[in-house]
Amino acid sequence: MNEIARQPKLLKDYAPPPYLIEEVELDFKLAPRAARVASKLRIRPNPKVATGGRPLVLDGEGLALESVALDGKALTPSDYELKEGSLTIPRAPAHPFTLELVTYCDPETNTALSGLYLSRGTYCTQCEPEGFRRITFFLDRPDVLAVYTVRIEAEREVAPILLSNGNPVAHGDIPGTGRHFAVWHDPFPKPSYLFALVGGRLAKVPDRFVTVSGREVDLAIYVEPGKEDRCSWAMESLKRAMRWDEERFGREYDLDVFNIVAVSDFNMGAMENKGLNIFNDKLVLARPDTASDADYASIEGVIAHEYFHNWSGDRVTCRDWFQLCLKEGLTVFRDQEFTGDTRSAPVERIAAVRMLKTHQFPEDAGPLAHAVRPASYIEINNFYTATVYEKGAEVCRMLQTLLGREGFRKGLDLYFERHDGEAVTVEDFVEAMADVSGRDLSQFMLWYTQSGTPELACSLDYDPHAKTARLSVSQVVPPTPGQTKKEPMLIPLKMGLIGANGDELPLKLDGKGVVNDGLLEITGREQVFEFRDIPSPPTPSLLRGFSAPVRLTVSLDPEQIEFLMRHDKDAFNRWQAAQTYATNLLTAASREGGDLSRVTGKEALRLAQALGQTAGDSSLEAAYRAEFLKLPSESDIARELARNVDTDAVRAARESLRRTIAGEIGSSLAELYEAIAPQGPYSPDPESTGVRALRGAALDLLVATGKPSALARAERHYREATNMTDAISALAILSHLDAPARDEALAHFYARWQDEPLVLDKWFAVQARAARSDSVETVRALLSHPKFSLKNPNRVRALIGSFVHGNPTGFNRADGAGFELLAEQAYEIDRFNPHVAARLLGAFESWRILEPVRQGRAKAVLEALARRQLSTDSYEIVTKTLGPS
Ligand code: BES
Ligand code: ZN
Repeated sequence: MNEIARQPKLLKDYAPPPYLIEEVELDFKLAPRAARVASKLRIRPNPKVATGGRPLVLDGEGLALESVALDGKALTPSDYELKEGSLTIPRAPAHPFTLELVTYCDPETNTALSGLYLSRGTYCTQCEPEGFRRITFFLDRPDVLAVYTVRIEAEREVAPILLSNGNPVAHGDIPGTGRHFAVWHDPFPKPSYLFALVGGRLAKVPDRFVTVSGREVDLAIYVEPGKEDRCSWAMESLKRAMRWDEERFGREYDLDVFNIVAVSDFNMGAMENKGLNIFNDKLVLARPDTASDADYASIEGVIAHEYFHNWSGDRVTCRDWFQLCLKEGLTVFRDQEFTGDTRSAPVERIAAVRMLKTHQFPEDAGPLAHAVRPASYIEINNFYTATVYEKGAEVCRMLQTLLGREGFRKGLDLYFERHDGEAVTVEDFVEAMADVSGRDLSQFMLWYTQSGTPELACSLDYDPHAKTARLSVSQVVPPTPGQTKKEPMLIPLKMGLIGANGDELPLKLDGKGVVNDGLLEITGREQVFEFRDIPSPPTPSLLRGFSAPVRLTVSLDPEQIEFLMRHDKDAFNRWQAAQTYATNLLTAASREGGDLSRVTGKEALRLAQALGQTAGDSSLEAAYRAEFLKLPSESDIARELARNVDTDAVRAARESLRRTIAGEIGSSLAELYEAIAPQGPYSPDPESTGVRALRGAALDLLVATGKPSALARAERHYREATNMTDAISALAILSHLDAPARDEALAHFYARWQDEPLVLDKWFAVQARAARSDSVETVRALLSHPKFSLKNPNRVRALIGSFVHGNPTGFNRADGAGFELLAEQAYEIDRFNPHVAARLLGAFESWRILEPVRQGRAKAVLEALARRQLSTDSYEIVTKTLGPS
């Protein structure tokens, strides 16, 4: 709240800590209103810093301090300074010493869900990035690494399960008190943000894993009693992830136990605390009737992600929070590779690129743009962004593309070996890659420091006499807030030239032999590549596999794009060609108020034919075919329009193209739908998942015809569903309609699932996303539903988050009602959970691309919000989103 908290912190101001804390003993006595924390810290002056009577400044927030002792001697208040935010010992010794502190914190009133809090009666912690200081006074920064021993004591009735990081060393009763204790020791030095503790009445689902070198690991998932039958998918995913990390990256697990705890109140998805991952229960619990295929896929991906952090994050961690991409970008890259290997590589690539373009591109083009490694921040919680995560993952992927899989693996091995047990920087990571490859990666470093999405413009000229094709490439990195001048970047451009019969032509570069793997390296602002021996005009397939996070423009006519969507051997680019073809129609129609007939006649039909052909091609994976049937989303279209966006016109254009396509290929979609109806019990395996996705996508398009037979089919799909995937996809389809079938299905779903919080979240979310003109009113009404609560982050994200992030037309309604709803709800939430509020407010980031009326409304609402009393988190988002006044 105060002005000091709102001063930006700068990367260039980094200074190593004057003291190191090498050993920590923590003793917890759990109680709801006053949890007692006794800590014993072995501290020594940092030899790398010229100390000598330097003050020791420990971070601490909202703590009640009972006592301080230095080397066994009690300190009096005159020996230290206690302020909100810190405890300072001005004359700390210049030799190693022991500091003992006793403090109290209040888990029950901890509504920010950072530090030690209670979730439905379970004590749990969230310390990343700066939550440990809400548990005890500490040097709460990632470059202070210590070995922790933790003793936890609690009433056995309340908390029969007591967990912390590392390995269990002791436990027992405290006779005559009804209390018991457990002691845990983590031999691996770690920063405070990886500390975790759990105490509660939880059920244990055990398993075992034998690592590649034969070490036995006890695995366990802890959940609310009664939910044990929903853990098997998470457990199987964990074991697959552990094996995969051994095989693909040579990374073995290192403790005797690995525990996962699922809690219902959690600000994020999950957290990689060493040996004790804590999860939002929606990313653990799955049963065919309660979880959809999408849920199964996220559980698998997030379990893997947090597990992979054990190396990329825990064993080697970040020096400071500016380096966050070092663990998050790399770990997202690793989890994407895992999913690609486990499921389908092209479908995973499509999903990752969709995510990048939907979330990261707008961020990079808007007021909140920042580099993958930002140079400044006000509130670090606001920097767990799509840029750090998704673009950060792309940067790792480009390194793998440039060095080759083997080269990248060697680089990663060297990085882990060199820096095991250390807190490091992006430079250390890139240096390992440079050292194993012998390459100079200094230009590549711009990917970490320069914000904005590079624009790559390409054109191909064919010379029939010389039989050459000249590819001209130019790059521009657009200006972003605080960065007006940009340098050209190193861009890996994967490409192919396709001959008239669909064959790949060899890429013989004039003077340089054949291009390896079709990989060009773009380094300058303008470059020309001349290919020899090209017998006839080729079609270029550029940026294959989305080899770099750039905006590509190529001058291709619709026939060439259609050729690519039918013939490109690169599965990603084939899908991309279909998306581009559709996007071109949709942006043109959106500029005409949504009237498709004014911009296209035969193109929409040709698109329909190509989509129908691909969807029906049984030589392709079903999941991939399903991706073809999904038209660019409303936010895809808005992003491509980039200015003067009228969201109603966008929705009209998209609906109209869907109707046209469905009208054209409806009967073959209906046949497909019937032909692939699955038999037998539900299984979440990738093949069956793909078939359900394809059927769902076909049904979704069919309903766009508005035909009664299609509606009847959707109703039947809902009624006959034997799993959540089919039920929720039918419910979503029905939710957009103005028909009794919609109300009946919603009522039925509610009646069946009202007592299952995670399923009820879907009921809220489906209504918030419905493409109906009354969606603001619907959401408003649901805010007063007895089952709605602002205090549970999952419920808030289901209703308000789905509306503001997943319903662009509703949120951006021309009268400003959507903006007002968000501002008022975020303000309420901000008073008790700033992190959740600030994330919701991120929905305003693209307000400047809207047409003037909507822009005016958004601006007024943001300005009114900026005048209110806000947390540092929300203040940063609101003021940066408004931009310099
Ligand atoms: N370290 C993060 C969790 C986190 C994020 C803690 C922000 C504190 C603040 C964790 O590894 C993570 O990235 N979780 C993601 C899911 C992941 C699969 C991208 C999340 O929680 O959304
Ligand atoms: Zn992570």
